[in-house]
Amino acid sequence: MITVHTIAELRSVLNAERRNGKRIGFVPTMGNLHEGHLQLIDQAKASSDVVVSSIFVNPLQFGAGEDLGNYPRTLQQDQEKLESRGCDFLFAPTDEEVYPHGREAQTQVEVPVISDLYCGASRPGHFRGVATVVAKLFGMVQPDVAIFGEKDFQQLMVIRRMTEDLSLPVEIQGSPIARNEKGLALSSRNGYLSAEELETATVLNATLRNASEQISNGQKDFAAIAEQAQNELEQAGFERDYYAICRRADLQPASEDDKELVILAAARLGPARLIDNIQIDL
Ligand code: PAJ
Repeated sequence: MITVHTIAELRSVLNAERRNGKRIGFVPTMGNLHEGHLQLIDQAKASSDVVVSSIFVNPLQFGAGEDLGNYPRTLQQDQEKLESRGCDFLFAPTDEEVYPHGREAQTQVEVPVISDLYCGASRPGHFRGVATVVAKLFGMVQPDVAIFGEKDFQQLMVIRRMTEDLSLPVEIQGSPIARNEKGLALSSRNGYLSAEELETATVLNATLRNASEQISNGQKDFAAIAEQAQNELEQAGFERDYYAICRRADLQPASEDDKELVILAAARLGPARLIDNIQIDL
């Protein structure tokens, strides 16, 4: 695997591949890679000839008081993991390479409506930061296909919409959530948790499975189901953030006759804010 740190080097290596007619697959990340990220690499390999990953802890998507400073940076281990999965190129730019005019002067990409819901309501400006950096990374890498995890379901929707609205020639693929043996969605932020908190964290997915089962069995009082789940989370030691039973097409609150649903949930546990989701087909 070849690691490059500048846009000029990246363009030069990828132009050579493109001239040879290679299809380029792209997996953007913030590093501290785990099996969830590596499954995206596997999927990219299956969908393209040359796989590029990026590691960039994007300051634009972190709010004041969030974990930008603490976010784990583990470049060497990440390089080894990417290499072992057959990633061809790693792009690991500095802040200055990505935002040469500074963050304040950066042109930004706003995906309205959907960006204001759920995670966007809890983290104002977060999806503007995500959409902006992903649009820039698409410009730098010029991938044919890009893979994103369903773990960040709302993010995947924001990126699909941005790509469509800006007519970017990139195919967006989603990839299923990778979990540990107890059902906890893998996340770089799980590293903030103690052993005891890691046990408690599994309750988040348990409430989602339980809520999904109730809905599959015909329960329609979505507000009551969400309230019950949030009470369970609080009893387990979580602080509430949101718990939303949504229509999958646009993430608006589900109505009784919607058939394709997703439950999106976020809750804080000690030092970490955890998110998870579950899709339901009725
Ligand atoms: P990051 O949190 O590093 O995640 C990178 C990619 O890995 C995202 O597409 C995310 O959905 C996926 N991912 C993380 N955990 C996963 C899991 N357990 N199962 C499946 N996929 C998982 O998401 C970001 O970085 C950033 O917002 C980014 C898109 C790179 C823009 O800065």
